[in-house]
Amino acid sequence: MADGTTAADIVAQLEALEREAQDKLAEFTSDSDVNEWRTAYLGRSGKVTQLLRGLGGLPKEERPRVGQLANTVKGRLAEALEARQAAIQRDQLAGALQSEALDVTLPGEPVRVGQLHPTSLVLNEILGVFERLGFQVVEGPEVEWDRYNFAMLNIPADHPARDMWDTFYVEAEPTKSFGSMLLRTHTSPVQVRVMEDTPPPVRVVAPGRVYRNEATDASHEAIFYQVEGLAVDERTSMADLKGVLTAFAHDLFGEKTRVRFNCSYFPFVEPGAEVSISCHVCDGGGCRVCKHTGWLEILGCGMVHPSVLEAVNYDPARYSGFAFGMGVERIAMLKYGIDDIRYFYSNDVRFLQQFR
Ligand code: DAH
Repeated sequence: MADGTTAADIVAQLEALEREAQDKLAEFTSDSDVNEWRTAYLGRSGKVTQLLRGLGGLPKEERPRVGQLANTVKGRLAEALEARQAAIQRDQLAGALQSEALDVTLPGEPVRVGQLHPTSLVLNEILGVFERLGFQVVEGPEVEWDRYNFAMLNIPADHPARDMWDTFYVEAEPTKSFGSMLLRTHTSPVQVRVMEDTPPPVRVVAPGRVYRNEATDASHEAIFYQVEGLAVDERTSMADLKGVLTAFAHDLFGEKTRVRFNCSYFPFVEPGAEVSISCHVCDGGGCRVCKHTGWLEILGCGMVHPSVLEAVNYDPARYSGFAFGMGVERIAMLKYGIDDIRYFYSNDVRFLQQFR
């Protein structure tokens, strides 16, 4: 050979090259290194091919043996490459399986499920009773005009009955026909709004939030809920009023509950009454809850005052009606034995969770 390279030299170089390639391959841990390696050793101008070029300088009879060896080396490196790639993939999969492992048998994070507020629970119950009795549920605005909250309800300006409701006024110019803007002190204005919009007969209940400008204590909140009721038709009498409200009391507090109607004064009704139920704690015997009277007051009511009917253009000679109004939290307090109205809006889940 011209350059003195012998078959033994090429074989030794081939072996060295294979060792080097195998060693490098063993270090690979990701697919990205592999392509470079493939080009460097097995590619068309790779190291093995280059070595084979030296084959031409060998004696003819030695060429096949060395050429075959070179091909075997190439084959082994290709196999090793495949094996390495498979191993890398296996490792990656095993790693992923471990790091992304999900134990579906582990107990889950408990989800806190909400529930209805006791005011909502009782409100729904109250409305349910009246809906079954044929009353329709309607609503009115919380920001109201003097006209609806007072004037049309037979409570003219400067009338002493206004002292019954401590009022939050809204800073707005009073208008000539609607008066001052205010936060409604009761749901009674909805009576007027309904009658103004609807010819008789009407039979509605109006739930909603009301506002009183007064100091809070165990039985007073500045914001609370009321349900108003109104039924107007021909020949509606006090007997209808008593029948409906007795049925209501029985439904909410039990069939055995005794119901009492006492004379009372509200400017928009005549006669007016207060309804009490026999104390369900002592059954009328007298206890701490009923302040030893045996009775619990649950609402105000009466026959719609003829002046109110006239004001909405209902003919009082033809139509008569009854109305009632109750505090929702008060009913809830009686039902559940809650002794302080301030619990309702103190946002304490220990209180709220007790009612379902
Ligand atoms: N609006 C009254 C109040 O808040 C309650 C009331 C009494 C409503 C008698 C009525 C009624 O409809 O007839 O104190």
